[in-house]
Amino acid sequence: MGFFRSLGRIKSIDAIVAESQGAGRSLKRVLGPVDLIALGIGGIIGAGIFALVGTAAAGDAARLGAGPALMVSFLITGVACAFTALCYAEFASVVPISGSAYTYSYATLGELAAWIIGWDLVLEYAVGNVAVAVSWSGYFCEFLRGFGLEFPRWLAVDLRTALASPDLLASAPHVLGVPVVFNLPAVFIVGALTALLFVGIKESARFNAVMVGIKLVVLAVFVAVGAFYVKPEHYTPFAPNGWGGIQAGAAVVFFAFIGFDAVSTTSEECRNPKRDLPIGILGSLAVCTVVYIAVAAVLTGMVSYRELNSAEPLSVAMRSVDLPAVAGFVAFGSIVAHTAVLLVFQLGQPRILFAMSRDGLLPRFFGRVHPRFKTPHVATVVTGLFVASGAALASLEEMADLCSIGTLSAFVLVCAGVIISRHREPDRPRPFRAPWVPWVPLAGIGACLYLMLGLPWAAWIRFGAWLVIGAGIYLAYGRKRSHLARQIPDGPRPS
Ligand code: ALA
Repeated sequence: MGFFRSLGRIKSIDAIVAESQGAGRSLKRVLGPVDLIALGIGGIIGAGIFALVGTAAAGDAARLGAGPALMVSFLITGVACAFTALCYAEFASVVPISGSAYTYSYATLGELAAWIIGWDLVLEYAVGNVAVAVSWSGYFCEFLRGFGLEFPRWLAVDLRTALASPDLLASAPHVLGVPVVFNLPAVFIVGALTALLFVGIKESARFNAVMVGIKLVVLAVFVAVGAFYVKPEHYTPFAPNGWGGIQAGAAVVFFAFIGFDAVSTTSEECRNPKRDLPIGILGSLAVCTVVYIAVAAVLTGMVSYRELNSAEPLSVAMRSVDLPAVAGFVAFGSIVAHTAVLLVFQLGQPRILFAMSRDGLLPRFFGRVHPRFKTPHVATVVTGLFVASGAALASLEEMADLCSIGTLSAFVLVCAGVIISRHREPDRPRPFRAPWVPWVPLAGIGACLYLMLGLPWAAWIRFGAWLVIGAGIYLAYGRKRSHLARQIPDGPRPS
């Protein structure tokens, strides 16, 4: 097979589904539609609405803020995600197996595109979780402070902040002359959730459902109480930085929407994936969009947007109207919300690695299923180690931007995949059909590109470097080891 033909080799949907059902490969089918909506909300509401929303409203050194027009930013991003969600839902219903966008693109765009998406999804899940774990640590320390406990700063700091602060470096203990600085709470929470996921999906889904309930109640209390303190003058000027600020704000809050697609990674564990996956994906996105717009409207009405550039903007708003108890309650909800996001993403990443290994693009050990727990335990532990190492040293904003740009690029390919799949296999049964194809996927592609353009240039450079490394790994390993290339197993191959 010629070099360029090999990059475009396509795996048939029938072969993908058949392989997933091989002996010793199947995961336990225990999840229903309510579990899936809860998993979606669990993955969506987290660091984005509780932390990054402040940056989106007020701006920072790298970007303009949206001001009170933050609600417009949320609306734009919610609509952009809805186009992609419809495409995800169609694919998830046609290819109801583990692997998310990666699997869909293998069946439509070919092996190289699938590899690139799988590689991008590491940015979404693992790098995204690095950002969330770092933000979790910040709230955790803040929460302890409420009880008068001060966590040592050298044990809860990212490397960049530490290097910029000579006093902090001097106060840290030294080993062989090197100061010891890292983010212990972030490492701890990743380790604890990895252990939970090692043991089993159903237990994790129950734990997630409780956390989702708590965070929805906390945001409802924020909106219900905060609404009494909204002052109309805070809405003027409505868009202090014009469309530039709204676009930058929309790109930041995109992070807050990431997660609805994580539902699709559990398709091999759903009782009825064809019906329930679209319900889970679209349902969770709809609930979160409504909640976000309500929170944004109340938040920017309670306090001037200029005061929101803080790691805890929702608590800041409550303190500004002299409600410290509600501020503390919101901080508690934020820790719970972060934990739920971490759980869903730590759950999603190993399942993508699992699918890539099953195709021979990654080593076989990623595809092992634990004999007793029926979980992809090796991939779960590798993900835990990767995220914990990143969270030990990285900073929130950089990782969130990198996660968003990688996710948006994967979304572009998913939308393109729907158009190509309809063209290539028009008669294939599609239990869920995205409406108005190709217009909805084209709108999704345009909207995702618009959001990508709102991200800082540093994110683009890091993303470019990530893609170059990924291409190198594919050429050195996956291209030769791919099961499709080696014809193992002998599945039907589309012409
Ligand atoms: N949507 C997730 C969050 O906001 C990633 O934390």
